[in-house]
Amino acid sequence: MQSKLTIRDINQDKAPLGEYQLSGWVRTHRQSKSVSFIELNDGSAVRGLQLVIDPNLDSYKCVAATISTGAAIKVRGQLVASPAKGQKYEFQVSELELVGVADPETYPLQKKGHTLEFLRDILHLRPRSNTFGAVFRVRSVASMAVHKFFQDRGFYYVHTPIITASDCEGAGAMFRVTTFDLAKVPLKDGKVDFNEDFFKAETSLTVSGQLEGEIFATGLGKIYTFGPTFRAENSNTVRHLSEFWMIEPEMAFYELEDNMKLAEDFIRYLIRYVLEHCEEELKFFQEREWTAKDHIQVLERVMNADFASLDYSEAIRILEKSGKKFEFPVKWGMDLQSEHERFLTDEYVKGPVIVVNYPKEIKAFYMKVNPDGKTVRAMDTLVPRLGEIIGGSQREERHDVLLQRIRELKLPEENYWWYLELRKFGTVPHSGFGLGFERFLMYVTGMQNIRDVIPFPRFPGYAKF
Ligand code: 4AD
Ligand code: MG
Repeated sequence: MQSKLTIRDINQDKAPLGEYQLSGWVRTHRQSKSVSFIELNDGSAVRGLQLVIDPNLDSYKCVAATISTGAAIKVRGQLVASPAKGQKYEFQVSELELVGVADPETYPLQKKGHTLEFLRDILHLRPRSNTFGAVFRVRSVASMAVHKFFQDRGFYYVHTPIITASDCEGAGAMFRVTTFDLAKVPLKDGKVDFNEDFFKAETSLTVSGQLEGEIFATGLGKIYTFGPTFRAENSNTVRHLSEFWMIEPEMAFYELEDNMKLAEDFIRYLIRYVLEHCEEELKFFQEREWTAKDHIQVLERVMNADFASLDYSEAIRILEKSGKKFEFPVKWGMDLQSEHERFLTDEYVKGPVIVVNYPKEIKAFYMKVNPDGKTVRAMDTLVPRLGEIIGGSQREERHDVLLQRIRELKLPEENYWWYLELRKFGTVPHSGFGLGFERFLMYVTGMQNIRDVIPFPRFPGYAKF
């Protein structure tokens, strides 16, 4: 007899009819004199398995009254073809064990549908709901797809540090790491004396693994990172988290055009992989009221589309000529806001678009300056219904130009000595980008709030569990 079988295996016709032992949680329990039914879910699939039980079965009879929604049970029995409509299989129970009860008076996940907001308050139980079970299975599958994409293309996975002494984006939105007693922080000449701190230096949680990624790209050729990153920005939006996961490839000898091509291939690959491996989950999302009716079609279109590209300056002209009233007025030099991004991708291109060559003032110090002296080789990938999903660039590989940029922006030069040295010894053109993993998951699941695609969301004012 086979054990450790999942309901997903059964649903996918991978289990021949016969005797099995199964375990999981009760979704519904219906009793009658002649036959009882339990819908069992083990977390492996949206669709549970119907257990058919003879009410006189000894091991069932004695616990039947306490089998309620949420209870954990183990059963032994026969997997058989189901005579009932709408289900291929059912399970005839010969032995049942009640493993853990769930008091119906207090168990919050009763069978009726719950709002996503309600579930966000019970992060410890939400993976047991259909919606979050599906979201987190997709998250796991998509993680695998990320590794497969890069590993199949000769990229090496690099673990960049989480505690860092450098500010990658140069934007200062970092969480401090310290062991100081905050009630008595040591001072020297009126300033905090970080020599007294744990690392004898000022340290923070990383905002990006890119700079360390560049070290490895200029050693191993093509690398990627995939890990948590932290941003202390006060952005209380449905697209921002304070802790999120980012995938950052970095490639030596790649110019901007090579980088754009890789970003496009990557997005398409991820979508295809998820569509192929999570068919049931995607169909389930498609049926939810918060998801667009043509959700899967849109994904299929993106998966097969050639990504358009637009120069930032051209994008500005298009926005100016659009006749649209934007909340943030359009002007060359401004950063594109979500409303502008949405217009470009949803209404103008009607598909994914990569915007390139942004003004240097609104982009990070490490981006390669164009011959015009005003713009940098940046690329943001925008997708319909979401906006920015990828940010990247060709990096400044010229030592003097980079040093000048660091000075112009008044960044602490001494912190970047090693980054500058990469440009002193065997410097090469190189490029990379960052995909926000949760942005991608929102896109593919259709979930409207980024807090619903990460197991334990952190955002301003909230870090529970
Ligand atoms: O555009 P960003 O800030 O770029 C970087 O961090 C570069 N170092 C990447 C690189 O070139 N290696 O962030 C990259 C992506 C964004 O496009 C977005 O998808 C996501 O990370 N992102 C966030 N996701 C969730 N919450 C936030 N607060 C995010 N900030 C950025
Ligand atoms: Mg960005």
